[in-house]
Amino acid sequence: MELRIDRRALVPVVQQIVDALTCWIRCNDVAPGTRLLSVRKIAHINLLSQSCVVEACERLVVKGVLESRHAAGYVVASPVSSSARQTHTSLCQLPLGDGGLPESWRETDDLAYAIREVSRTDMASLFNYSSPLGLPALRQQILKWLKQRKINVEDSRILTTAGASQGLDLIVRTLFKPGDCVVVESPGYPALFDLLNLHGISMLEVPRTPCGPDLAALEALMLKHRPRGLFINSFHHNPTGCSLTPEVAQRVLHMAKERGVQVIEDDVYADLHSGPGKRLAALDDGVIYVGSYSKTLSSSLRVGFVVASVQMIVRLAEVKMISSMGASRFCESVVACLLANGTYRQLVQRQRQRLNSERQVILQLLEDAGWEVFGKPVGGLFIWARSRMQDDAQVRVQARRFGVLLSSTTAFSPTGAATDWQRINVACACDPRVRAFFQATAPDRPQAF
Ligand SMILES: Cc1ncc(COP(=O)(O)O)c(C=O)c1O
Repeated sequence: MELRIDRRALVPVVQQIVDALTCWIRCNDVAPGTRLLSVRKIAHINLLSQSCVVEACERLVVKGVLESRHAAGYVVASPVSSSARQTHTSLCQLPLGDGGLPESWRETDDLAYAIREVSRTDMASLFNYSSPLGLPALRQQILKWLKQRKINVEDSRILTTAGASQGLDLIVRTLFKPGDCVVVESPGYPALFDLLNLHGISMLEVPRTPCGPDLAALEALMLKHRPRGLFINSFHHNPTGCSLTPEVAQRVLHMAKERGVQVIEDDVYADLHSGPGKRLAALDDGVIYVGSYSKTLSSSLRVGFVVASVQMIVRLAEVKMISSMGASRFCESVVACLLANGTYRQLVQRQRQRLNSERQVILQLLEDAGWEVFGKPVGGLFIWARSRMQDDAQVRVQARRFGVLLSSTTAFSPTGAATDWQRINVACACDPRVRAFFQATAPDRPQAF
């Protein structure tokens, strides 16, 4: 059992073993009850320490993929009920369209240090509410970050939130009322559509091109429907991964100003972008800006922020206090600590580097397999692509064969329209199952005689 462990890879060795064993079970349809080679043999064949192999196997036991049997070692687990079977299948499946970094990409050391540091030194953060606008130390760090991106604001214009989701929720509750209409990008972020539906706000969809929203369509929507707001992902749009060009950014802002449309810039993938380019909020002071640490540091900490006018921040803070008594002071302190000691900056640098090299590999694989790629993204987490060779049903059959889970066909449309485009998470796509899946969708190679 050769696991092909790469010691120079940034993925920890134990995680590589977990992935490789999962792939082996999945790709070979290994029957429940099958005995794995002994830990000693697996370690010997792959030049690994036995403790790494044991740790990986134990993780798979926790996930229900393996069982540990006395005197027999590790065997492939047999799911006991249909719901357990479903859980087993989904645990073994690789969610190629996932919206965040997989666990294997998350780094724990600096985060664990910051958590210990805050627990040890900051009793108030362990036990007390945060202040309505959010922890001053965190807001100061956010202020510095914004200045580096040419968004020059006072700290009274920053409100911390429980992730970007709370920021968007507060904005929708405060700014709009049921029956209002707003423009959203299509394809776009599914949870935003759900949020707007929940609040009875109607959506007008503007097609997203690789350079930003389709300007002619946007102008027509603004003229005809007089929307109150426009939600937009400026950098590394979800799901296409593409960013606004400066020309499109200027035109969008001009149109919005002319028609009195409030622009809400949702920039949660901001730190995965390192190239040139200005945020809409840097070009226009009236833009409401939403940020988050979920995509880079931790989705579990739930720390994000909103930048808006002072009056708007006061209103948003009131709603925040009414609905949640504020954000988590502990989590805010942990994030502030990582921002202040420089480890967050280094973390996102490593993530960008790794995503950049994986992206090159995936784009090549897609090209070899004859897939069409939307706008060839140069940063961020996503690629939006579709097979030219096979229809959606055939692509899904191949995906299932290799244990790859694709997003729902209707997830990214505000109206629930189906598409054959797939959101491909670059960080998930380096798995061998994904390579095998793409290769299986490739055109038949000419036979060699
Ligand atoms: C475009 C976009 N906005 C907002 C969010 C929510 O982020 P958070 O986890 O910070 O609430 C996501 C998460 O996937 C997203 O993709």
